[in-house]
Amino acid sequence: MTGTATAIAHPNIAFIKYWGNRDDALRLPANGSISMNLAELHTQTSVSFRDDLRSDILTIDGKEISGAALARVKAFMDQVRRLAPDAGYAEIVSKNNFPIGVGIASSAAAFSALALAAARAAGLNLKEKEYSRLARLGSGSACRSVPDGFCEWNYGSGDEDSFAVSISPASHWGLIDLIALISDTHKKVGSSAGHVSALTSPFQSERIRTAPERIAKCRQAILEKDFKALAEVSEQDMIMMHSVMMTQDPPLFYWEPLTIRVIKAVHEWREEGLDCFATIDAGPNVHVICTAEAAPTVREQLVKIKGIREILSSGPGGKAELL
Ligand code: DP6
Repeated sequence: MTGTATAIAHPNIAFIKYWGNRDDALRLPANGSISMNLAELHTQTSVSFRDDLRSDILTIDGKEISGAALARVKAFMDQVRRLAPDAGYAEIVSKNNFPIGVGIASSAAAFSALALAAARAAGLNLKEKEYSRLARLGSGSACRSVPDGFCEWNYGSGDEDSFAVSISPASHWGLIDLIALISDTHKKVGSSAGHVSALTSPFQSERIRTAPERIAKCRQAILEKDFKALAEVSEQDMIMMHSVMMTQDPPLFYWEPLTIRVIKAVHEWREEGLDCFATIDAGPNVHVICTAEAAPTVREQLVKIKGIREILSSGPGGKAELL
């Protein structure tokens, strides 16, 4: 069959982190999570099903992709073909306006945009929760990039109801994420491999057990725009996830010396009354989340820290959309 569609999606930054799966193949998470989409960063993906193709082909930022990255996308396209058996193979062209593979959730933006574009190009007309569920099969955190603004990925009882929903729209709270880029090299061990061995850390089961309390606190903090409460619960959750990562077998140590320097600086600024906190995904970069009022001062302070390569800035982003 032939069919073309283009979609755009934002990456997201998690306040309550997803780490570990109860089912790795279906990406059913070990715990629920909450995140904010990032408006200024985006991935745009076009999918064209073509009768002349004997396999899916993929181009990212002008470069033809092969190997593991292509295999992952092909496996995802197989999921789309399960829903649309006549779809055949597709040419997929994706563009990012931010560096990929450095811990700023490129897979979240990538698979949410791909879910929308591929499903539509295959002639499917899905509801938001079905797009979110489909995106989850490509990358867990991608399900949170489908709905608008601040999103919660439900633990769910299984494949059918493990998807993300919007807690509040992007317009609800003008938080700013200042992303301090500490390294732009590709990480050695990505999250997919990390999730698989999360349970080898003795701390993972306790992190999972106590996650619902943090989810409830985080959701309430967002709804009430209570920055202090959001800062406390998010930082605690981030440190818990990295404690699990560092104590897994094999251990994953994503932090660089500069990562810790930024965390400590953020703590000092908060003590001095600036509304800011730090959160970090599977990489060394620090996301400094602040209120719109605090953002200019926090940025001025961040710029003074030697070694930070670049500071990206973003407010809350909207949902993934078909163009
Ligand atoms: C540390 O969604 O990237 O960013 O499902 O294997 O693609 P895969 O994993 P991924 O894991 C994200 C982990 C995290 C925390 C988070 O975003 O919740």
